[in-house]
Amino acid sequence: MADIGVIGGSGFYSFLTGAKTIEIDTPFGAPSEPPVVGDLNGREVAFVPRHGADHRFPPHRVNYRANLWALRELGVRQVLGPCAVGSLKPELTPGTFVVPDQYVDRTWGREHTVYDEAPVVHTSAADPYCPVGRATVIAAGNVVPAGTMVVINGPRFSTRAESQWHAAQGWSVVGMTGAPEAAIARELALCYTSIAVVTDHDAGVETGTGVTQAEVFEAFKNSIERLQDLLRTVIGQLPKPDADCSCRHSVDVS
Ligand code: ADE
Repeated sequence: MADIGVIGGSGFYSFLTGAKTIEIDTPFGAPSEPPVVGDLNGREVAFVPRHGADHRFPPHRVNYRANLWALRELGVRQVLGPCAVGSLKPELTPGTFVVPDQYVDRTWGREHTVYDEAPVVHTSAADPYCPVGRATVIAAGNVVPAGTMVVINGPRFSTRAESQWHAAQGWSVVGMTGAPEAAIARELALCYTSIAVVTDHDAGVETGTGVTQAEVFEAFKNSIERLQDLLRTVIGQLPKPDADCSCRHSVDVS
């Protein structure tokens, strides 16, 4: 069992000590990879590589429902979701960590809910991230403490016009995996905190040829140690599993 979950890049495999792989199936099929559970900073942590261990699932093919369901099945109540993003503001340079407080979901065609059948359930997404998880990350590290993440469907990057439009809305960063991950976590009454790792300036901010996949992968690799340090600190400071949180009441019927 574990009480904290991390959904991130495969670089986190080395992160946990005494890690055990747990084969687990869900009503939505298999997660991207069987979760590994191990100790980190005195807490039991479960990790799922979002894109699979060999990065075989593009953002629109990730089984977000199965990944989150599997973590919940293992006892997880708080999820940290680091992800690579492009910057929509000149001052958010590569290597910056942003803790989004809002997202705009521009994805389509993804399985985006666990409530596909009766009973009908409408969860609140007004404040889509866990207030406690966000506060813990903000207190732990050198991060930008708020910002809106627009989530595009990918796998292509934005056109310059799309990117300029996103920037003109005042949005901070653009990614491909933040939705429906956050929404499904909320539906499962999980605490979910996004940590957006800026890897590039998106096409509308950049004057050159635009962002490339190689640039994103290289920049994410360059941030991985700092990200791991941040996660280590945060995981040690997250509230214990029996602490209450508004996220746990997201599907309470009143
Ligand atoms: N992930 C990393 N950089 C990105 C970008 N520029 N657009 C969308 N997703 C990204």
